[in-house]
Amino acid sequence: MRIDILTVLPGLLHGPFAESIVKRGIEKGLVEVHLHDIRKYTKDKHKRVDDTPFGGAAGMVLAIQPIHDAIQDLQSQRVYNEVIFLTPDGERLAQSRVNQLSLCGNILMICGHYKGIDQRLRDKFVTLEISIGDYVLSGGELAAAVLTDAIVRLVPGVIGDEMSALTDSFQDGLLAPPVYTRPADYQGLKVPEVLLSGDHAKIQKWEEDQALKRTQERRPDLLHG
Ligand code: ADE
Repeated sequence: MRIDILTVLPGLLHGPFAESIVKRGIEKGLVEVHLHDIRKYTKDKHKRVDDTPFGGAAGMVLAIQPIHDAIQDLQSQRVYNEVIFLTPDGERLAQSRVNQLSLCGNILMICGHYKGIDQRLRDKFVTLEISIGDYVLSGGELAAAVLTDAIVRLVPGVIGDEMSALTDSFQDGLLAPPVYTRPADYQGLKVPEVLLSGDHAKIQKWEEDQALKRTQERRPDLLHG
């Protein structure tokens, strides 16, 4: 899988991709993540990438030319399964969408800033608009990092224990059950007896019951959705 990200602040994304799961996916050769600085594409003599909006509203808008040229340059090199714009007015991200995106070969993400990007770019190129929640970030970069992490961990081979991603919260429409590790008794804080029983059927039943209970208590909307 290859992910290309268009941003005016590539430095914001170096850290998240240089650690943990995404780093591992890249090192194993299973994933490529390429950051592209939108500023490199501007033809403005002062290297500006933003401008004031028509109509006189407050704030700035990322201009059409640099992003248009960047997308055309990247699309001339490969076909993208999805061109994703990260924006608070996009589709609220859910695990089902992440699962679908993890099957893509090439994904292009565009990070907005200020008031966003010129609407004509959205109309012409963008195939999917994603929000990571009902709040406003300063730009799309942290949302792109979240989306990339969620996708990359599902690419086969990236996570060592193949079962582990499948048993995440949300994968079966339920939250995950509580987990414990050694010691079984820590200063009087005890692990539930059933987990020490060695009875796999009983343990599985307990975990399913706990997942259901937790979902009922914390996210009843998942059960009725
Ligand atoms: N850009 C700014 N806020 C955002 C959000 N909540 N989700 C995705 N992109 C954003």
